[in-house]
Amino acid sequence: MTDATSAASRILELRSELDQHNYRYYVLDEPSIPDAEYDRLFRELQALEAEHPELVTPESPTQRVGGEALSAFGEVRHEVPMLSLGNAFEDEDLRAFDRSVQSGLGLQGGDLFGGGVEVEYSCEPKLDGLAVSLLYRDGQLVRGATRGDGSTGEDITSNVRTIRNVPLKLQGEGWPQVLEVRGEVFMPKSGFEELNARQAEIGGKTFANPRNAAAGSLRQLDPKITASRPLEFCCYGVGQVSGELPGTQVTMLQQLKSWGIPISRELKLAKGIEACFDYYRDIGERRMSLAYDIDGVVFKVNTIEDQQQLGFRARTPHWAIAHKFPAQEELTELLDVEFQVGRTGAVTPVARLNPVKVAGVMVANATLHNMDEVARLGVMIGDTVIIRRAGDVIPQVMQVVLERRDPSVVRPVQIPSECPVCGSAVERTQLIKRSKGKESLSEGSVYRCVGRLSCQAQLKQAIIHFVSRRAMDIEGLGDKTIEQLVDEKLIGSPADLYKLTYEQIIGLEGFAEVSSNKLLKAIADSRKPTLARFIYALGIPDVGEETAKVLARSLASLARVRQALPQVLTYLPDIGLEVAHEIHSFFEDEHNRQVIDALLGECGLQLQDEGGLNAEFTAIATLGGMLDKLNIPSVGPGAAQKLAERFISLEGVLAGDWLDMRQTLPEKQAKAVRDFFDNTENARLARAIEQQLREFGMHWESEKKVVEGLPLAGQTWVLTGTLELMSRDVAKDKLEALGAKVAGSVSAKTTCVVAGPGAGSKLAKANELGVRVLDEAQFVAALGEYGVQA
Ligand code: IVH
Repeated sequence: MTDATSAASRILELRSELDQHNYRYYVLDEPSIPDAEYDRLFRELQALEAEHPELVTPESPTQRVGGEALSAFGEVRHEVPMLSLGNAFEDEDLRAFDRSVQSGLGLQGGDLFGGGVEVEYSCEPKLDGLAVSLLYRDGQLVRGATRGDGSTGEDITSNVRTIRNVPLKLQGEGWPQVLEVRGEVFMPKSGFEELNARQAEIGGKTFANPRNAAAGSLRQLDPKITASRPLEFCCYGVGQVSGELPGTQVTMLQQLKSWGIPISRELKLAKGIEACFDYYRDIGERRMSLAYDIDGVVFKVNTIEDQQQLGFRARTPHWAIAHKFPAQEELTELLDVEFQVGRTGAVTPVARLNPVKVAGVMVANATLHNMDEVARLGVMIGDTVIIRRAGDVIPQVMQVVLERRDPSVVRPVQIPSECPVCGSAVERTQLIKRSKGKESLSEGSVYRCVGRLSCQAQLKQAIIHFVSRRAMDIEGLGDKTIEQLVDEKLIGSPADLYKLTYEQIIGLEGFAEVSSNKLLKAIADSRKPTLARFIYALGIPDVGEETAKVLARSLASLARVRQALPQVLTYLPDIGLEVAHEIHSFFEDEHNRQVIDALLGECGLQLQDEGGLNAEFTAIATLGGMLDKLNIPSVGPGAAQKLAERFISLEGVLAGDWLDMRQTLPEKQAKAVRDFFDNTENARLARAIEQQLREFGMHWESEKKVVEGLPLAGQTWVLTGTLELMSRDVAKDKLEALGAKVAGSVSAKTTCVVAGPGAGSKLAKANELGVRVLDEAQFVAALGEYGVQA
């Protein structure tokens, strides 16, 4: 066998194997090999085809990637017109449809009780995508077309070929020579979310919903773009067919499935219209959890002969109907945008709408999230907008209908410079980002009122949060009461709750003797919260219950939480730099400090589990890691690690001289480190972090110890000159106990030289070779790093 013939047979083998796996994966939903194995086979085929381009055929699974870009789509005439469906919105519409089917088939009054005979209907979800026709000749996909106006569509063959679950070649046997299958091309919800996220990241176009995304992806002149989009196909019928297919809608679809055409997993047969209602309700309940959007279900008279007998009226069949779900999207006008102030001061735009019924509920307000979203939507007051309300989700503004914009009426949405509630300044949040050892600030998408608890809106929300069940759990204090307390200036902070008197409470709306006493008792009973509850109740931005628990468990005292430096907080599980800064600045805030002091002082709060540090908390602090957290400009984790290895202790680094640093790091970084620590603020911060890590009981160990057991394993030290605090022998013992070898002469392999007064040639040699040198004080400090006393 020649090389080429063996390649040819392997290519055929691989293609048929890959086709089989595609079929199992996309049509049967039962993959039999892991994705990685599939990829391996695929790459093998790609490689063989690259070696033998003459063996590439259009139906090879490698040929989905998208061919040449077109300048325009060609036209396709539909031999059998592509029709649409009549709609049923109300139950009665569906009953009327059933009656007309019965009469059309001459079944009315068919039984003794005049109830008619039950018609069998196929039930399918109505996918919200685009109708597409796929033409197979001799089992090969030869053409894909859009519906267009029903008689003429666009030729999108190159694009449909890129859709993973569209077979390029039919499976099995017995298919008619000409087989045109029809169905919906759609984008699953997850793929839509990912696509939008990807698009947003690269500053590309985002889509309002999966349907638009599917349409935009399918109608691309460049099939490579289509290939990169997560489209799927689902077949619901046929067009042109040479020869016979099974005689019912359900059996026909099942036959298509056996040839590799994907059909709906939700396909069911219903006997009688009541069973159709059941199907509608069942799918309706599961609508949100389906992987794709549907806008209703489709019922079709199951027997094809009956379908033919019933025929068509203009553009819709008499034998099928779409039973629609209430629309989730509606058009309305954006009357105004108001700004709400949340618990943490976030000032968020809220759309005031001309009220409209969406999915059965009147909607007058919708969220706009933040100003970035306003910018993304390009929405202006006075615009016509698409509102979506899906399930229990808050109504959202999805899109502006630009065609309906009247430029003389619309005006831009502007973030107020002052808080609409308290008049304090409104500032844009800053995001702290870190990359390559650089901390940089960028603008966040949230604006905040800086008024904190002096802002009544924030105060109300803060107290509502403070008393809530998972926080201080004060029962009997509803939102309305809190609003009244704040409005009447009876409380100005959470601490004031504990100063409320019986007279004040009974004066509130809805309070009588019993309820007032009950509330007083509930407030008194809340005085012994756990530390975690208390931290959570404070309402620190970005600190939810979980983070509060982490803080409580790890630091075990409010005092430590209050003092903790942001860099130290980032050692705790799941606390990033951003949150660490929020926590730190919350406790730095003068007003917050006063409130907390009052709560723990005059209000008599006692935190339950204050106490010693938890032994279970075992973060390991390393010098390299800590240096990295300092965010020295242009110094990343690698360089920080080198510094740590070279200088062994923070004091060593702080005292490290320029020449020495340059031995360790490239000049630019060495200079950056020197400059950084020459700033006394930075040196102080570094010392403070180190000290706090110790105080907080973190294990302070060298990287080496973690890896190899002993901290100085593999290192070679040299002692020279006179040591004043200990004898050379004692120093040697200590070094050896830490795993170091102590040598008598200096070489390039020497890790470190400890030089006391009177050191001579060994010190000179060390300097010449650029070996790190410690004086005795630095040496003692270094030993201290490893918990060894001098
Ligand atoms: S049958 C003659 N079945 O809905 C029957 N259509 O308004 C033609 N659609 O253009 C269509 N799911 O894009 C049928 N299971 C389904 C469907 C479905 C979605 C779409 C299709 C069609 C439109 C009809």
